[in-house]
Amino acid sequence: MFKRIVNSALLILSACALAPRATAQQAIDAEGHQWWQHAVFYEIYPRSFADSNNDGVGDLNGITSKLDYLKALGVDAIWITPCFPSPQVDFGYDVSNYEDIDPTYGTLKDFDRLVAEGKKHGVRIILDFVVNHTSDKHAWFLDSKSSRTSAHRDWYIWRDGKAPGVPPNNWLSTFGGSAWTFDSATGQYYYHFFYAGQPDLNWRNPAVKDAMFDVTRWWYKRGVAGFRLDAVDTLFEVPDLRDNPVLPGKNRYGDPNMTDLYNTKLPEVHDVLRGLRKVADEHGAVLIGETWTRNIGELKEYYGEHSNELQMPMDFMFTQVKTLSPPDFRKQIAAVDSAGGWPVFVISNHDIIRSYNRWGDGVHNDQIAKVMAALYLTLRGSPIMYYGEEIGMENNDPKSRDDVKDPIGRLGWPVEKGRDGERTPMQWNESANAGFSMATPWLPVPPSYKTHNVADELKDPNSILNFYKRLLAMRHTDPALLDGSYIALNESDPNVISYLRRYKDEAVFVVINMSLSPQTVSFDLSAQGYPSPKAATLLSDLKSAPPDGALKPLVMEPLSVYIAKLSK
Ligand code: NOJ
Repeated sequence: MFKRIVNSALLILSACALAPRATAQQAIDAEGHQWWQHAVFYEIYPRSFADSNNDGVGDLNGITSKLDYLKALGVDAIWITPCFPSPQVDFGYDVSNYEDIDPTYGTLKDFDRLVAEGKKHGVRIILDFVVNHTSDKHAWFLDSKSSRTSAHRDWYIWRDGKAPGVPPNNWLSTFGGSAWTFDSATGQYYYHFFYAGQPDLNWRNPAVKDAMFDVTRWWYKRGVAGFRLDAVDTLFEVPDLRDNPVLPGKNRYGDPNMTDLYNTKLPEVHDVLRGLRKVADEHGAVLIGETWTRNIGELKEYYGEHSNELQMPMDFMFTQVKTLSPPDFRKQIAAVDSAGGWPVFVISNHDIIRSYNRWGDGVHNDQIAKVMAALYLTLRGSPIMYYGEEIGMENNDPKSRDDVKDPIGRLGWPVEKGRDGERTPMQWNESANAGFSMATPWLPVPPSYKTHNVADELKDPNSILNFYKRLLAMRHTDPALLDGSYIALNESDPNVISYLRRYKDEAVFVVINMSLSPQTVSFDLSAQGYPSPKAATLLSDLKSAPPDGALKPLVMEPLSVYIAKLSK
């Protein structure tokens, strides 16, 4: 389920010619890996990436203009958060037409061009499929609310109140207040897990399922390589709509604390995922899940008992490791590695405070950004980067309630400042508005754009950006980093996380000092078949990297990274 990790305690025919239909699942190597297992994904918040028409809001042509940059960075697929027609109540997560592009972002023609140019660049396009709800302005909902007997009435969840003025049950919207809104014209309440402008679809109605599955087919035919599925946890509610258990205390909106027991993570979700996967498999596509899991058991369920649900459920538990703690990361990596599916590592997105601030200590943030990059980009699995992470973009939270654009920030201010801070414009250069737009951007650029921007960082060999580029180039070419197993080393070291990535006779050795003090570390790798290992540096930010040759005890500077190829 969607959850903030915050200040609070918390998309046919002509297009086929442009982008030929993807072939069904095709292995890219002898081990049977699929394309998405070797791909680096990159999330783009389209409002904030690049503004081609200078109206202060980013757009699809802006994204297309940056494909050279993305390819040179090492990105293989971009996930674009919703760019469909929308009243923008939740900045696109309230879709009023699943089969078009919002004029703010361009046209279907622009989209087809993006797919075609992406293809030339080797960058696939992943769209964001908002499966749980539509906008209240979607034609389905407009018909649904028009009368109790309308054709689409049962496409949403309508109920009588318990009594006049009393909603059907105690369920709360995760964005504050009751999850029920009264419609005076038909005298019933409709259910919305998110805003009132985002009514929940009734997935128990087979017509909903058919229509939504067809949406995916429509976009696959247009050349889309997969979907990120929004809010899958919330697809179903128990049919009798019984009250959820109330817990002591109040949440950040002043509502009673509650366990969303009867309206999230119901087993029926998995039937839908299996169905969507079947369609995806016919198109060689990948399904990425927004899966807020509490433990590995829950994550495992999203892969499906027969690996027939989501190929890539996101592991958000990784983002919840609160400090730079090797034991905590080790534990989480081992858990995900053991889940039986392909791990998916994410350190930031448009709903959570940027990693630069979450793990940064205010003094060594640039170095910490490199440490975190070295970690999640060398693990077994596919990483999903968030735009700007590669240049050390920071959160720029609103300073006053009047500045807030995200409605949850307006409702929850000041405890909940909303998500504007992590959605600010991409910092391209030192010019006005960080080169994002010639017009005033929809969200302000933080002052850090003067030092943390693409143009300047490309020129600096020690920049975060060049560190990301080196890491990504390495993981695209090294067989051990692409396909190797993960073997934890020195598991009781509280300061230095180290591991082998091992594939056949190849091994890559990763050592990351997460502490603020120098650490000398020794390794006995005989159990791993390397009694007298030789190491050749692949990437290091140590001031004096050890010479290539016999592996000796390493003197790791504070917050440093050493990555080497091992041989016997
Ligand atoms: C999760 C999305 O990431 C978030 O931005 C959105 O507000 C909710 N789902 C509702 O669609």
